Amino acid sequence: MAYIRYKAVAITVYWFISYLTVAEGRYDPTWESLDARPLPSWYDQAKIGIFIHWGVFSVPSYGSEWFWYAWKGNPPAQDVIEFMKKNYPPNFTYADFASMFTTEFFNPDQWADLFNASGARYVVLTSKHHEGFTNWPSSRSFNWNSMAVRPKKDLVGMLAASIRNRTNIHFGLYHSLFEWFNPLLLQDYANSFTTDFFSSGKSMPELYEIVNQYEPEIVWSDGDWYGPVEYWKSREFLAWLYNESPVKDTVVTNDRWGWGSTCHHGGYFTCSDRYNPGTLQTRKWENAFTIDKYSWGYVRNSPLENYLTMDNITQIIAETISCGGNILINIGPTKDGTIDPILEERLRQMGDWLRVNGEAIYNTTPWVYQNDSYTPNVWYTSKKVGFYTKVYAIVLEWPETKTLYLASPIPSRGTQVSLLGYSSTIAWRMPVSHSIGIELYMPIIPLNAMPCRWAWVFLLEYLYT
Ligand SMILES: *[C@@H]1O[C@H](CO)[C@@H](O)[C@H](O)[C@H]1NC(C)=O
Ligand SMILES: *[C@@H]1O[C@H](CO)[C@@H](O)[C@H](O)[C@H]1NC(C)=O
Ligand SMILES: *[C@@H]1O[C@H](CO)[C@@H](O)[C@H](O)[C@H]1NC(C)=O
Ligand SMILES: *[C@@H]1O[C@H](CO)[C@@H](O)[C@H](O)[C@H]1NC(C)=O
Ligand SMILES: *[C@@H]1O[C@H](CO)[C@@H](O)[C@H](O)[C@H]1NC(C)=O
Repeated sequence: MAYIRYKAVAITVYWFISYLTVAEGRYDPTWESLDARPLPSWYDQAKIGIFIHWGVFSVPSYGSEWFWYAWKGNPPAQDVIEFMKKNYPPNFTYADFASMFTTEFFNPDQWADLFNASGARYVVLTSKHHEGFTNWPSSRSFNWNSMAVRPKKDLVGMLAASIRNRTNIHFGLYHSLFEWFNPLLLQDYANSFTTDFFSSGKSMPELYEIVNQYEPEIVWSDGDWYGPVEYWKSREFLAWLYNESPVKDTVVTNDRWGWGSTCHHGGYFTCSDRYNPGTLQTRKWENAFTIDKYSWGYVRNSPLENYLTMDNITQIIAETISCGGNILINIGPTKDGTIDPILEERLRQMGDWLRVNGEAIYNTTPWVYQNDSYTPNVWYTSKKVGFYTKVYAIVLEWPETKTLYLASPIPSRGTQVSLLGYSSTIAWRMPVSHSIGIELYMPIIPLNAMPCRWAWVFLLEYLYT
């Protein structure tokens, strides 16, 4: 009798615990289960992130962060071979560059303050790129990491500490599953991935390690094109990340987890580098792009025209945010630990622009229309406030005409228009030579009263639709 009662209690407790686990959302290592996890809301609200590509490739800082592969890969790039011949002794190896990764001017507090001034709400640092060098003292790498050799610093830990201490910016980490020349991976590849020396012995343990140690709120995976998800065991990792890891409730992931996952599975979609579809997407997505158009890592000899202008950057922000994406704008710091003044200036100018126009970016949702259905270079975002919707028209070019015709917003009698950062209201009329839309009278603004220099945002309130 007592036994039966005990058993009934045990069963009840068991069901109750199962119920709690289900209610908490336990994820299985299947795409079906993992893809169903709602994206933590902070990420969509944040909109603006900074990507940082920093590693041993920052030492030669020539060509791109793919320098080692360009030099020793198949086929090698002739200009890189020439560059090495001309500038380094004949027996110089890529590993020798690590001793020159000095980072003597690295001041993580300064970086954190700059990122904060840029208006970014999250940062993603390369913990390890395809070269395999880890920017933290990895327990799986005795001499190819930033503590054992020249930096002699835990770069990941130092930046994480400064960002968390000084700002409200979310800290995230990039991690490359694959490494170009790791012999264990080459062996697994030769065995058609029937062995897992590299994934089980190096890459995945490091991924668990950085999550446990640094608690990143973004795990930005890459290097996924070199093996199936079964080989990487990335779904098992994601289930652990979502169920048990120290960041299980807030962490956000991307989509690069092995063959077939990119643009199909995971957290938000990155699809390809510089992904910018120009139309509204059903899944949350991110546009990762570089200020130096041709490289993610720092390149010493990039000419000025290789750098995106602020016009380019505000255009990319407008196109991306109006279509439901986030931007991840990339900088490559130098091997000295500095951020090139031109990159710093772009980031600070982005911050200047966002301080005026951030209302049209952060915490917004896509509107019914993403770009104007008649006038080019006008992109829309919106914000629900109680029962009505504020609509923001981001105008990339100041019109040369006295009025600006917008075809997509339909005004009501009570429609009010303003220009963000400018005090007077903007007059408007029903369009003269079009049957729908609204015509704004462009204000004549003294230069010193101009709210910003690059893209201007009109706020449209109390529209009919
Ligand atoms: C390259 O080889 C020369 C002689 O063979 C030696 O003196 C020099 O130290 C070597 N340099 C490196 C970077 O290994
Ligand atoms: C971070 O940026 C915000 C908004 O611009 C500003 O109010 C704050 O003082 C900044 N914090 C630091 C540490 O620079
Ligand atoms: C955090 O910042 C304060 C003030 O800027 C500084 O005194 C303190 O040492 C910092 N702590 C860490 C852990 O960086
Ligand atoms: C950047 O803007 C310039 C004009 O300012 C334009 O000629 C160029 O095509 C733009 N580049 C990109 C990548 O958008
Ligand atoms: C903007 O919208 C129109 C239709 O409303 C569409 O034809 C056009 O391709 C869109 N995109 C751009 C970049 O203008």
